[in-house]
Amino acid sequence: MADNVSPKVTVIGGGMITKIQILPTLYYMQSEGLIGEIGICALNTPPLIDLQQDATCKDAFPGATFTPYPDPATTGPDEIFPDLYKEVLAAAPKGSIAVIAVPDHFHYAVLKEALANDLHILIVKPLVLTHAQAEEIEKIAYEKGLIVGVEYHKRFDDRNIMARDSYRAGRFGEFRLAQAHLHEKWYYRDSNFQNWCTCENSDMFTYIGCHYVDLVAYVTGLKPTSVSVYGIKDKYPNGNDGYLWTDARVIWENGAVLSVANALGYPNAGPGGNSQGMVMWAQGPDDGTLMFHQDQYRGVKHSYVVAGTDPGDTTYAEPNPDYYRLLNLGGDVKVPVGYGHRSVSYIINACRKAAATDDLAERQKLIKRFDDEGIMATPANSSYNELVVEAGRKSILSGGREVAIDYKTNTVDFTN
Ligand SMILES: NC(=O)c1ccc[n+]([C@@H]2O[C@H](COP(=O)([O-])OP(=O)(O)OC[C@H]3O[C@@H](n4cnc5c(N)ncnc54)[C@H](O)[C@@H]3O)[C@@H](O)[C@H]2O)c1
Repeated sequence: MADNVSPKVTVIGGGMITKIQILPTLYYMQSEGLIGEIGICALNTPPLIDLQQDATCKDAFPGATFTPYPDPATTGPDEIFPDLYKEVLAAAPKGSIAVIAVPDHFHYAVLKEALANDLHILIVKPLVLTHAQAEEIEKIAYEKGLIVGVEYHKRFDDRNIMARDSYRAGRFGEFRLAQAHLHEKWYYRDSNFQNWCTCENSDMFTYIGCHYVDLVAYVTGLKPTSVSVYGIKDKYPNGNDGYLWTDARVIWENGAVLSVANALGYPNAGPGGNSQGMVMWAQGPDDGTLMFHQDQYRGVKHSYVVAGTDPGDTTYAEPNPDYYRLLNLGGDVKVPVGYGHRSVSYIINACRKAAATDDLAERQKLIKRFDDEGIMATPANSSYNELVVEAGRKSILSGGREVAIDYKTNTVDFTN
């Protein structure tokens, strides 16, 4: 049985998202007594050593540690442990929390294992890659009274909550057209992405375009009904092929359309961590309405003595204060702020609420509440994302043909 006051958190996946967003929030929650021991399992030791030595976390949370699996103290860097996560999840106390942050195509296998071991779950987006898998996960989790929260952090950006409340109060009228883009910096091509974000597994729309699809659904409450994605193949430094430039058109149930451009193509010399934003045009009874979100430039301009040492750091920079920052507010540890932190802590707290009761009916009531509120993405309230991924993959692999989503059968097929 889990310690239901401060449950253990077992993280599977020790890569980029664990380092910049998940682990600092877990360390902070641990310092507040909200969670217990932290364990992190990766495929091999190099990412774990990287996390252990991370200067940002060392500075913000002096003395904080996690239990690494495999242990770098006794394991060489070339040894690979593809199945160790099963043992690590089996050893976690029942009713404690699993965080899943492995590559997209591996989510399903780890989710099944975490559910089989009775763990509440935070999983980074996308939940899984097919609707059938999402339904299966929803069913198993509900039957066992286990929380599954999907980490779409744009849902916790204040501007998007403002937009959602105003849209749903009718202040924007009806959504007609939207254009969004999210381009990551060129140097991402050099990272571990080149080993998994390849043409056969994923593409830039599936990987990051999904954020703006989820966001439009989150704001408007509408469902996407067809998708066409045109992708340009490009070579990673290791020679693998990836769809590194994509342009998607998503039609919604009211006939509105969202176009989304995505790429690993924002210049390394660009002043932000990436380039992103969305404009939505809508209509009221007698006039047009407008929602304009510049999502990387948040009004801050810095010019430093020298650039930082991380890839993509520039001397002139436009840092985003809203995503994830560790602030010195006095005290022993730094304090995380931003929508990245709010998102992770919200889902971990949802898991903690469920971990606090042995009563299955009570936990199922809690799951239904999260499903109905629609703030936290769950398998039940966000599986349109899996249908969009299925449709998008079918479309991109056929050169951009339009693929429709059928909500009666939860299947996708070419429109002609
Ligand atoms: N904006 C976002 O919401 C956002 C941003 C970045 C990443 N992500 C998601 O996070 C996930 C991970 O992305 P990342 O950038 O951290 O990737 P990454 O490649 O940096 O890290 C992947 C990690 O998974 C581990 N792993 C792989 N196979 C494993 C196995 N068999 N057992 C245990 N660990 C294993 C690797 O060791 C590595 O530590 C992806 O699903 C990605 O889509 C989401």
